Amino acid sequence: MNYKLLFVCLGNICRSPSAENIMNHLIKEADLAEKIICDSAGTSAYHIGSAPDRRMRAAAKKRNIILEGTARKFKVSDFEEFDLILAMDRENYRDIIYLDPQEKYRDKVQMMCSFAQNHNDKEIPDPYYGGESGFDYVIDLLLDSCSGLLEYVVRN
Ligand code: 4NP
Repeated sequence: MNYKLLFVCLGNICRSPSAENIMNHLIKEADLAEKIICDSAGTSAYHIGSAPDRRMRAAAKKRNIILEGTARKFKVSDFEEFDLILAMDRENYRDIIYLDPQEKYRDKVQMMCSFAQNHNDKEIPDPYYGGESGFDYVIDLLLDSCSGLLEYVVRN
């Protein structure tokens, strides 16, 4: 098995780098680092080249997760490059599938929350304009979703 996962949000500085780093944390714990590769991207160009948001890093650190990476924009070649593309919210999903008008890669694009096992949320909410608790909640939801996603990848 060699599987490539791409996490996508709007800015690639809050939710998707958190998803990528949480997933890498779980993958290392499961001793699968050689087999499952993670990356993240944003649908916008707003923050290209930026490190993860300071508030997001603080929320992740409380759970012993260090956020690494540099923001980049989602590109059409990502459809070929990755096995599964995880959208954080519906707007991200729409922006991604808009770039695949022939629906060739439609099955590769999934909502991140569909893998959560202990939450009924449909989206990872955008924490950018809110307070600290929003960032903590993103981490909670992503820990749940990433653990379900890892089970799915291992099973399939
Ligand atoms: P993200 O959060 O999509 O989770 O990285 C955001 C980051 C930046 C902006 C919005 C959301 N922004 O409007 O600049």
